[in-house]
Parts: sequence; structure tokens; C-alpha cells
Amino acid sequence: MRNVIAIDGPSASGKGTVAARVARELGWAYLDSGALYRLTALYAREQGVTWTDEAAVAKLATDLPVVFDGERVLLNGCDVGATIRSEAIGMGASKVAALPQVREALLQRQRAFAENGGLVADGRDMGSVVFPQACLKVFLTASAQVRAARRAKQLGIACGGAEFDRILADIQARDAADTNRSTAPLRQLPDAYLLNTDHMGIEEAVNQVLDWFNRACA
Ligand code: C5P
Repeated sequence: MRNVIAIDGPSASGKGTVAARVARELGWAYLDSGALYRLTALYAREQGVTWTDEAAVAKLATDLPVVFDGERVLLNGCDVGATIRSEAIGMGASKVAALPQVREALLQRQRAFAENGGLVADGRDMGSVVFPQACLKVFLTASAQVRAARRAKQLGIACGGAEFDRILADIQARDAADTNRSTAPLRQLPDAYLLNTDHMGIEEAVNQVLDWFNRACA
């Protein structure tokens, strides 16, 4: 698929920022697939459905009343953009994302994003399951320590204290859950380019992806 770039990687790696910037540079659409799992977790919580009830959560995922309106994410008409970014909903997303029926329920919805032109999609299984024919696959990562430091900076939390330790522990827990699950685990594919951003800013990462794109998809 010449019109799809798949960017996968662990939580807080910066792949969302890089993917959105690459999409803007190319004039392509951007899919934040993690938002769909986060929305499913939030919707389940609102509906009183436990995150482990596979059939019930899958039903909610199929019927997800979501509208992406520019920067805004509306669930049942309410802007939930900030709510779905909480660590609690992130953990819930990781739980519902481990359920095969839920992943199946969200599959077509994700593929539909590529029907009307170019798409940059980020997540955990963009290259392995959702868009295996993408012309460019990138595995974007950074060490857990660096990712925790970036998240702490975003939240205005000093490095090294108890709050920082909690952020690092959350990131490590989510890495473990996403990597060790049996359905669509997070992994670097043999045909994906590795982009480690430990010592790299956003600008440089975006330029690297665009450079690979020009070589792989032209
Ligand atoms: O990327 P983000 O942190 O928003 O994703 C939230 C959770 O959703 C991840 O921890 C992961 O478990 C799940 N996810 C997934 N597959 C994707 C995107 C996200 O399993 N393609």
C-alpha cells in the first residue's frame, strides 16, 4: 500500500507526535489507533461494563459512538480528549486491547481511515495486523527511563521523586502487558525500520521518517 505509513512502538515513545507531524508534512490523514482502545475502555467504564468482559466490551467497541472532529474527540457528543489521556484509562485500554474480539471489532474501523487517500497510522500492530502491506513500517522507541522523563516533563513533575517512580512503573507495566500478550503483541517486525529516539528530537525523527518514506514508497 503506497498510501500507508505504519508507525508502531511502546507507550510514551513520542510516536503520536512524530506520526501526526509526518502526516501534516505529507498532507495525509493521521490515525491514533490507541485512542480507539482508550475510547473503548472509557465507554465500558461509563456503561458499567468490566474491562475483562470480552463479549460485552467487543459489542461496545463495534458500536463506539465516536466522532473525530479535528483535534477534538467526541464520545456520545462529549469531548473526551483529555479524559482518555489519563493513566487509568491507558491501563484500561491495555486491558481491553488484549481481548481478541475487541481487536477484531476495531479492525475495519481502522482500515477505513486509509480508504480516502494517504494515511499515517500509529499504534502497536499497525504494521503486523492492520496494515501489513504498508509501504513503510517504523518501530519507534526509546528507553523506559527516557520515556518516563519526557512524560514527567509534560506533567511538570521533577525527575527522581516518588511521582516520577510511579510514572516509570506505569510505563514498564504497560510495556510488559503490550509485549507479553498473545494477541497482536508489540514487537519490532523484521521489515520495520528501527528509530530509537533516546538521543533524538522530534524534528530529527520526523525528517528520518520522511527520508525513509521517499526511499521506500516513492
Ligand atoms: O498508544 P496508546 O498509549 O494511546 O495506547 C493505549 C493502549 O492501547 C496501549 O497500551 C495498547 O495496549 C493498546 N493499543 C493496542 N494496539 C494499538 C494501539 C493501542 O493494543 N494499535
